[in-house]
Amino acid sequence: MSTRDFDEASITAAVVARFDDTPSPRLKQIMQSLVKHAHDFVRDVELTQDEWLTAIQFLTRTGHMSDDKRQEFILLSDTLGISMLVDAINHRMPEGATETTVLGPFYVQNPPEFPQNADISGGESGTPLYVTAEVTDPSGKPLANAWMDVWQSDEDGFYDVQRDDVDGSNLRARFRTDENGRVSFWTIVPKFYPIPADGPVGDMLAATKRHPYRPAHIHFMIGSPGFETLVTHLFVDGDPYLDSDAVFGVKQSLVVKFDDGEPGTAPAGKAVNGPWKSLTHHFGLKPQA
Ligand code: BEZ
Ligand code: FE
Repeated sequence: MSTRDFDEASITAAVVARFDDTPSPRLKQIMQSLVKHAHDFVRDVELTQDEWLTAIQFLTRTGHMSDDKRQEFILLSDTLGISMLVDAINHRMPEGATETTVLGPFYVQNPPEFPQNADISGGESGTPLYVTAEVTDPSGKPLANAWMDVWQSDEDGFYDVQRDDVDGSNLRARFRTDENGRVSFWTIVPKFYPIPADGPVGDMLAATKRHPYRPAHIHFMIGSPGFETLVTHLFVDGDPYLDSDAVFGVKQSLVVKFDDGEPGTAPAGKAVNGPWKSLTHHFGLKPQA
């Protein structure tokens, strides 16, 4: 192979060969494949010098926008469907196990623990929602003492971590399943919301006439010894953004319908004057390999 005078066709093989001595076979595979696909992409679109610089500036701004509270690169991955593609490849679920979806940037580790039937709404206004979640193995055997983290947006579509007026946490909790594998709690019906769109990812969405909205959902992360930790959401049936989620996270098996509550008969002794909703949902965990 020539080592000089590379042209637009021959340069790819030269760069690929430069990684031949990579000690890790996996790193070698990833770097060589990355070079081949990236070069093919540049040839495919015949990238101009100006476009190359625009891309460098975009990625630079993406880095500058990122810190321990805001991860603009993950948002970029999410909006390009890469996060969900990685999720799909890594979570091929057996029959009886719940499908996964994106974690998102609003998860907070070790959320406050709440007992069964607690109200996690912290007095937020919204339609009360009583959730009962049952956790089992794929055969339907209940998993007692599984941990379940729950987090969601408020009625205006904001998470507690996005609001300066919320001290501590709100609409997020950790529960433990009872002996029947069940957790019940009160919350409010979530609302659709825009992903953070004030950075380069938002500029990309605007320039390509894409909206930034995610359909209303409640996040769940569920774990039990001997099982893979499940990261998923439940989406609200009828939401206007179910078919155009900005991060491609919707799976039909995760879209749920709420039942209307009967006035005056709310569970767990809660006094509810107006309308309220309820939801019972089953989650199946996948055994660890
Ligand atoms: C979320 O659902 O919290 C989320 C997921 C991906 C990007 C932004 C937000
Ligand atoms: Fe979310």
